[in-house]
Amino acid sequence: MAGLFVTFEGGEACGKSTQVRRLVNRLEKRGRTVLAVHEPGFTEIGSAIRQLLLHARAADAMRSETELLLFAASRAQLVRETIRPALEQGLIVVSDRFYDSTTVYQGIGRGLDLTFIKVLNEFVAGGCKPCRTFLLDLGVAISRMRQLRRVRPAGQQDRMEWLSDEFFERVRRGYLEIARAEPERVKIIDASGSEDQVEERIWTEIDGVLS
Ligand code: TMP
Repeated sequence: MAGLFVTFEGGEACGKSTQVRRLVNRLEKRGRTVLAVHEPGFTEIGSAIRQLLLHARAADAMRSETELLLFAASRAQLVRETIRPALEQGLIVVSDRFYDSTTVYQGIGRGLDLTFIKVLNEFVAGGCKPCRTFLLDLGVAISRMRQLRRVRPAGQQDRMEWLSDEFFERVRRGYLEIARAEPERVKIIDASGSEDQVEERIWTEIDGVLS
């Protein structure tokens, strides 16, 4: 495919959305055409799935297997409706989360079968593999502090945010494990600094991909 596919990953409140925005602005200033997407959601079908996964009252009864398949369904739609066509047109696509989230949250966090998740991720991604993934790495204690400072409209708290610290320790370790296994693709970015510092760290890494 002609375009470039870049993804952002990390635990809660690690600053992904801010850094996606900053990277998109910077790339556009360089004259690149960029499409920013996020998961779960973005498409109409994905947004309905996001609501069900993260905010619906019924979600309290959701089983891990159901959760896995709904995240996968949202991504399957996003890839075919948006990401793949954009890459075929030569755009840079920047996604706030992609299949590594499923590996660590549902596989390592929830304890579902990692071999099955690998097969599912490949099926869902339909050949769209990120060329760079920025892992915004943040300790669980700092992440919790940042979450508490977030201002959210009533009812918009996300069901996953209230999982235990042990769960998020597993998520963090899972991400670092993926980065160790795929050092060319996954770059670990220390997300504990200021927004400007994190932006610079990402920019240094992306420069190599653009040239
Ligand atoms: P967000 O807070 O980055 O919008 O992500 C929503 C939540 O969904 C976050 O807690 C991570 C979780 N998630 C998964 O558990 N599995 C997935 O595959 C994806 C994309 C997100």
